[in-house]
Formats: sequence, structure tokens, C-alpha cells
Amino acid sequence: MKRHLTQKTYNPEQIILDGNRFLLANGHLGYRGTLEEYGKDQLVGLLIAGVYDQYKDEWRENLALPNPFFFKAYYEGEEVSVLTAKPLVHQVDLDIEKALFTRHSEFGPLTIDSERLVSHSDDSLLISKITVKANKAGKFKFAYGLDLDIYEIHGPHFKQKSCKNVKNKLIFDGITNENKTIFVQASYQGLSGEFNEKEGLFFSSMVLQEGEEISLEIVAKVDEEKLRKLPKDDYAKLKGDSILTFNKKLEGCKVEIEGDEELDFEIAYSIYHCLILGDEKRIRSIAARGLSGQTYKGAIFWDTEIFLLPFFVLANPKIARNLILYRIATLNGAKEKARSLGYDGAYYAWESQDSGLEACRSDNVTDPITGETVVTYFGTKQIHISADIVYAIDRYIEATGDEKILDEGADEVIFEVAKFFLSYSREDENGISHIDDVIGPDEYHERVNDEAFTLAMARRVMKILAKRVCPSCLSKEQEKLYYRCLNIKWAEPKKQGNVISEFDGYFDLEDIDVASLKKRVVNPKDYWGGKNGIATHTQVIKQADVVSLLALCPEDYETPVQLDNYEYYYPRTEHGSSLSASMHSLVAIKLGKLDEAYKFLRSSSSIDLRGAEKLFAGGIYIGGTHPAANAGAYLDLIYGFLGLRQNKGKISLDIHLPSHIKSVTFRYRNNKQIYEIKALADGRYESKEVKQ
Ligand code: BGC
Repeated sequence: MKRHLTQKTYNPEQIILDGNRFLLANGHLGYRGTLEEYGKDQLVGLLIAGVYDQYKDEWRENLALPNPFFFKAYYEGEEVSVLTAKPLVHQVDLDIEKALFTRHSEFGPLTIDSERLVSHSDDSLLISKITVKANKAGKFKFAYGLDLDIYEIHGPHFKQKSCKNVKNKLIFDGITNENKTIFVQASYQGLSGEFNEKEGLFFSSMVLQEGEEISLEIVAKVDEEKLRKLPKDDYAKLKGDSILTFNKKLEGCKVEIEGDEELDFEIAYSIYHCLILGDEKRIRSIAARGLSGQTYKGAIFWDTEIFLLPFFVLANPKIARNLILYRIATLNGAKEKARSLGYDGAYYAWESQDSGLEACRSDNVTDPITGETVVTYFGTKQIHISADIVYAIDRYIEATGDEKILDEGADEVIFEVAKFFLSYSREDENGISHIDDVIGPDEYHERVNDEAFTLAMARRVMKILAKRVCPSCLSKEQEKLYYRCLNIKWAEPKKQGNVISEFDGYFDLEDIDVASLKKRVVNPKDYWGGKNGIATHTQVIKQADVVSLLALCPEDYETPVQLDNYEYYYPRTEHGSSLSASMHSLVAIKLGKLDEAYKFLRSSSSIDLRGAEKLFAGGIYIGGTHPAANAGAYLDLIYGFLGLRQNKGKISLDIHLPSHIKSVTFRYRNNKQIYEIKALADGRYESKEVKQ
């Protein structure tokens, strides 16, 4: 059973991808999988969740911090690093069961070994140990400390910063443009050196004999607003504690696949990437690129509710609950957004940050040649986000039985979202309500009417309103609105046979498949949607839209309808979003197309291992990890191939595995207990409680 991601060669072309692949995180802090000698140009990143900042009129984004693990070695005055010489031997490794990164590089004069953890037992901590062995006798110099030159997409975010040396401990004190104070402190044990305040670095020179070793242990801590003490425990204890805690986290969500080693590893790796983003302590959500950088402004999208939430419902319901509490906590932002656009109720941010106000701007996309803005309307027209949140709340309550969350504000979220859809809809002369001028999950076609996904989700919001919100708890005026919502007669999207028109007029667009449309691409970085994109006037769509509907609400569509829609939309879908494959897999499983479903599953489960996704759009870095696709792979396996359904904690399976897979064993948490289910290819399964 492979549980290590190991890379045995050094490839400078993969520096950015490796930063994602070897990411460490603990839900609060993230540290990219880079090497000690790297700097800003190699996208070194220490990221903190939930803290955002805006510099001038730039995009408001999550904060990146100075790097406490910077280390560079010199021999006889010359730098010895992967940046100056090809290592003779090189290996980096991520142990996904320990959340531990290690590195080994041999150069002529010296060998460097290092390890690194972002602590799971104290989420403000990150630690590293670096060992250098002299392969030749001579004069060595080591530069180490806090690299203050931060890689930021839309910075600089610190309007004021200082770095002081207090007895071999460096303390960075920074004030952001939005007046948040952040401290990064780090102790450096094992070397003593001269401190250069401007660079934030120590310089230590010495003569080493052949075979002699030096070691540096770094304990770093990130604090907000108030500087707190570094822990008294030594490095070994801190390392042990982190590994133990991560092991406990993993205990409740391990998956083992018999008969498919590659998938077994990819699923374990996907789980790792989801698990390192969950925060049990805080009411926080998860950004679309997790803690791997500042792509998408560190904002939270529908990715969390539709893809990550069902993973956490099984892996750690407490974290799932926090994800919903985050939407309750940001309800005021959603109400404000609705009000500012002239609607009632709650219109959640398409890109949500700390307050829930909209972070998405109309200048999200640029023309790769001219650099000019391609105006998009994601922030103002992608209204399905509000319905997705209500859908997720309903599914969460159904799975866990946690109705208490309704009294903690989830009922208000449902009611306010229903009000929003009522105010957004237009009633025609026959009393039928339409939804005009929106964008569905397929973002290539903007400002369309009666979009199938949006209409169906709006209809579902009203059903959930009836099911979850008690009218007698409402004021008289609210009660009237409640019944108005329930009485809406929603328009049905048009159809051709069984095939649902993605939106009004969709079938009138040029009918072309993705491969043929690709031939019209002028610049590979061109955006296909918006006003002038190559897909805009065709039936080619960016990602699963009607197919997402079939995946999320299978009970609402008969099998022949599912089949006809799946087959119609499949050749017309570009899969331009990493979210698309897992939705297709879920539907393909239902239709018995197991080979096709398996291919889609592998496309999600290997996404960050393959690293084939685009890294730049125009001049903008859009890379990072893809937690929703990772979670999507888990959904395909557990909710799809194993057909898991959960009702008030009770699990049932309906197993349809690809023929080469013999069994899938998985664990989940329910009511503080951990359970393990072994699912066999012949459809049988057994469940047992795991002793903790
Ligand atoms: C997709 C959205 C998704 C966002 C963040 C976009 O490319 O079209 O559906 O929410 O990326 O992952």
C-alpha cells in the first residue's frame, strides 16, 4: 500500500507544480512544497486561512507570510543549491500518513537533508529540521532565517513590517493595508550567526571537516493581533505530537482499495489534500485552491458545499458543520449583496471571503494578447450559489440528523435564500415564474434565461423551505412570503425529446463538438466564454451543467432522461473546469457505464499528481491544488461506485464496482465513533465499529 509521494529527480520545470503536490497544511496554515533555497520566484508560500487584504484597487486576496524556513548553503564562497547546480542525487517525499515532507539532495561539497511539518497538534506552528553534511573539508557559510520577500499576486499586503532578532529568535511584525497585525516568529537552534536586519537572515560561517554535520531546528509560529510565546517542547516532541494528531484525523476517513493500486494511492492522496484543509476549531470554510496560494483570491465558491461538504460529512462531521456555520456567519454579507443589486433575501457571494461580501469582480478574465479585461458577470449573475448552499444544508441534515443547526441560523439562511429567488424571479401573464439573466455552472454562456440548473435548484430551495422551516416560527409578514415562495409555479426548461435545454435558446446555437471547436482556437490561453469567446455562440459548454443536476438530484430524473441528457451533453462539454469530471462520473455510474465513470474518476483523483491543469491565464497565476476535484474523486468512489446513502447517520450501500476492483474498505465518523465498512465487488458489505 503506497502512502508516499516520492520524486527522485530534480526537474526545474516542475517547481510550481511540486509546490502544489507537496503541500503541507493544517486547515489554518499552508506551506507550499518548495525547497529551502527557493524564494519568491519559485512561489514559496506560507499562507494563512481566513485573513484577507486589499492593496489599493487590486483584487482583495488571502494573505501570504514571510518564509521562516529559508536556508542556503555556500562552500568556499559559492552557493550550493539546486538553483546553481544539478544535484547528484535528489529526492523529495511527502508521507501522506504523517503529513511530513522530507528532502535529500547530494551535491559535490555537501549533502542536505531536511524535513518539515505544518503542525496538526498546534495549528499556529510549523517546524523544520535541516541537516548539512560536509562531503569535503572546507569553508562553509549558511544563510537562514525569515525571507521577507513574499510572493504575492496582488500585493504588497504589508504596509509596515519589521523583523527583529531576539536571542536567536526572529520576530516579524507586519501590519496589513487593512490594519491587521500578524506576527511570524521562529527560533533557530543549532547554529549561531550574524543577523542582517534588512534581509531578515542570519549568516553563519565555519570550517567543516569531511563527514562533519551541522543541524538546524526551526520552530515557527504565526499569531494574529498578539504575539504569543513559542512552545517550550523540543523539536522531537512537537514533531511526534503533530504526527500523532494527524494520524487520529486520518483514522476516521481511511480508504483502501483492493485490486487497483494506482487508484488506492490517488484516493489516499486526494483524502490527504482535503483533510489538511479542514478546521475543527474555527468557523471557516475552504478556498477553491485550498491553502496552496492566492489563486482565486483565496475565496470560497460552491466547490465547498457541493464537493467538499459530502466528504467531510463522513470524514469529520464537525468540520462539515463548521462549513455550514461559515455560511450562517456570512449571511449578512449575502443580504447586503442582494440589497445592493436590488433584491430581497440572501444572495451569497460567488467568491466569498471573511465577511461574505462579494469578492468577484467583473475584471476576472483578461485577453491573453492585449491584456485587456474580458468582462464577465460571475459575481452578479451566478445566482445558483445561494441555492447550492441551501441544497447542502438539507443534505447535511439528512445525512447527520443534526437538526439543531437549523436553530443556529440555518433556517434563516434557507428562508432568506427562498426570498431572494422569489424576488429574482419574474412571473409571466400565466402565473409561471421564470429566472432571467443568469449564469449556470457552464460559465461560457452568460446572462441566459430559464437556465435548467438554476431553475431546478430554485424549485428545490422552495421544497427545502417547506421541509425545514416551520411557518409558525415566522412573523405574520414573513409567513406571507413563506407561502408565496411555496406557491411559485416554476417554468420548466424547454426540451427536445428527453434532452433538457440548458437554457432558453440553447438548441438554436451552432451545434458543434468540442474537438471541432478546438480547431478554432487562436491562442491557447483564450477564454472560450464571455462576449466573444469561441464557445459563446455554440452548444459547447465549459463544465457539467444539466449533468450536474442529474448527479445532484438523481431522484428527480428517470433513467431514460438521465441517459439521453448524459449522452447529449458529454460530447459538448469541454471539462474546462476540474469540477466537471466527478459529476459525469456520478451519472455514468447510475447509467451502468462503469468504464467511462472510472475514467472520469481517475481524471479527478489524479488531478494534482498529473499537474496537467493550466498554471497561468493570461499573466495571472491560476494554479494550485484542486480540493473540490479531490473531494469529487472521493464522492465518485464512495457515493457513486459504492452507492452510499446516509440518513440520520445510518448508512446503506448499493455497490457497482468496476470489474477489476475486489473490495473497498473505508472508514467514517458518526457521533464520535469511527466505523469501518468493507464493501465487496459482489455487492455484499459488512460494517464494524473501530476501537479508538
Ligand atoms: C469554475 C467554477 C468553480 C471555480 C473555482 C471555475 O473555473 O467554472 O465552477 O467554482 O472555478 O473552482
